[in-house]
Amino acid sequence: MCGIVGYIGARRAEDVLLDGLRRLEYRGYDSAGVATMQGEAIHVVKMPGKVVHLTEALARTPAPGSIGIAHTRWATHGEPNQTNAHPHLDCRGDLAIVHNGIIENYDRLKIGLIERGHAFRSETDTEVVAHLIEEYAMKLPFEEAFLAALRDVVGTFGIAVVSRREPRKLYAARRGSPLVVGIGQNGEYFLGSDPAALIAYTRDVVYLGDDEAVSLSDTGMETFSFDRTRITKTRESITWTIDEIERGRFPHFMLKEIHEQPAVIVNATRGRLDADAGLAKLGGLKDVEARLRGIERLSIVSCGTAYLAGMVGEYMLEEYAEIPTETELGSEFRYRKPILDPAVEAVIAVSQSGETADTIGAMREAKEKGVLALGIVNAVGSTIARDTDAGVYVHAGPEIAVASTKAFTGQMIVFSLLTMLLGRQRRMSQATGSRIAHELLALPAKVERILAQSDRIKALAKKYIHAQSMLILGRKYNAPVAYEGALKIKELAYIHAEGYAAGELKHGPIALLEPSFPVLAIATQDSVYEKMKSNLEEAKARRAPLIVLTNEGNEELVRIADDLIYVPRTIEMLSPILNVIPLQLFAYHLAVARGLDPDKPRNLAKSVTVE
Ligand code: G6P
Repeated sequence: MCGIVGYIGARRAEDVLLDGLRRLEYRGYDSAGVATMQGEAIHVVKMPGKVVHLTEALARTPAPGSIGIAHTRWATHGEPNQTNAHPHLDCRGDLAIVHNGIIENYDRLKIGLIERGHAFRSETDTEVVAHLIEEYAMKLPFEEAFLAALRDVVGTFGIAVVSRREPRKLYAARRGSPLVVGIGQNGEYFLGSDPAALIAYTRDVVYLGDDEAVSLSDTGMETFSFDRTRITKTRESITWTIDEIERGRFPHFMLKEIHEQPAVIVNATRGRLDADAGLAKLGGLKDVEARLRGIERLSIVSCGTAYLAGMVGEYMLEEYAEIPTETELGSEFRYRKPILDPAVEAVIAVSQSGETADTIGAMREAKEKGVLALGIVNAVGSTIARDTDAGVYVHAGPEIAVASTKAFTGQMIVFSLLTMLLGRQRRMSQATGSRIAHELLALPAKVERILAQSDRIKALAKKYIHAQSMLILGRKYNAPVAYEGALKIKELAYIHAEGYAAGELKHGPIALLEPSFPVLAIATQDSVYEKMKSNLEEAKARRAPLIVLTNEGNEELVRIADDLIYVPRTIEMLSPILNVIPLQLFAYHLAVARGLDPDKPRNLAKSVTVE
């Protein structure tokens, strides 16, 4: 979603800002802009479309100076055109502002500002803040005016501002939308809504917390609350490298990330398994281990692909840890007034980014009720990672492609470790724990065997390139995998695909089946395999083309399937981790074959920081 970059130092700000914007492109956006300052002049250049269009515009009209702010916008209020692109100015062009998030009371504020003579140029909620600061700055020093405006605002924001009143200062603040300050060499500072924007320059960072502001100048950095109380922040160090956010030999980030999955499994399990003892050790849960023993119910909250990882987690936790578990969408959980008992319940927020607004909202709803809040998060230092009581990092490394792949796999791995931990606290035997652990350790090599089939799956994708619709079927552990396969096909290849628990086939979707409606069925040899075979027969009887995913060595489906994909065997509980990979590859190759960019699907954002 929207991205913010800022810079103050001795370099050409334009170069640093454009570089940062390029690194944030993966988040999804529809317009981009910069504002730099030289002396007391503000230079604003903005364009609809991609950062490359902004770069071209800047080649024609450069933005000079060594301080500036920049933005990629994902439209919420107002069309994605040049006027609505950030930065926005106040009436007199004295300040420029960029903003991520949503100002919920913007219409009320706007009416008041118009009545008091302010002239608006755009339809955005952001511009309200520019005029609000302008108004306060007529009677207050700029810093106080900035904070006073923030106190009036209801909603979420990551904000950065430069002003002619203080030409060598960059102000920023956050409530709900992430911001990180990078501390460079020789007194230069970088600002980003995501560390990816500044990792090329520095690894020394300070993450702003909610309701915290920062001023960056040539003489240093100061952090404070919105009532101007100084706050001392600790510096942190980013551990991942620039290579991890570059594509390398792969044509797309998505393909790179799919291929990273063996390493993701190794990283997510490293140091966390005592395979022979059948134990999982999760350092991030150590402090709450005693409390976990008393947990009798779990709610998993998340969105998108993370929600589907949660569903797989639910099956694991109920079957092996014997804890009643419900998976719920963050956007539903937070508003439905869930009844939670803090004495015996815990909530698990699952998120790649750790910044998804609805997941954060759900997690906070639970925390307010005193319930133990746990996180399964990939992005280190993110809001969910910091605001939960305890948690487990996925350690999948930065995920750049909008559609989640390796984080999904990593989340399922963490769920299996959590299942072992909670299960062994309860009635799971050492033998069962040990079997799961040994199977986990064997997964990376099995994933490699699936990845080696990428070209075969590519050929298959080409065969189905003209499909208008598809049905993806799975049962039990693999029902969420069917949903995830369908989600990937929809979001990447723009083909209407529905994921269904195969038992429901007869209750509706079978009406759609005909020779032009392909069915992809997950039929690995597990406890529901025989049931799946019946579903395959039902689909075949309606002459739907059948793509079947089954285990290596299983030849009995050759008769019924039009196409077969083979995956190695593992225990049923871990089968989603293998079965999802051919579906990721299938969706990826479908998108590429249809001439689409799988890394940046239309209208989608990597991190959905608004409701
Ligand atoms: C967006 C992304 C998905 C992701 C979902 C949840 O919709 O496009 O790939 O699964 O957000 O994001 P999170 O960061 O919370 O896992």
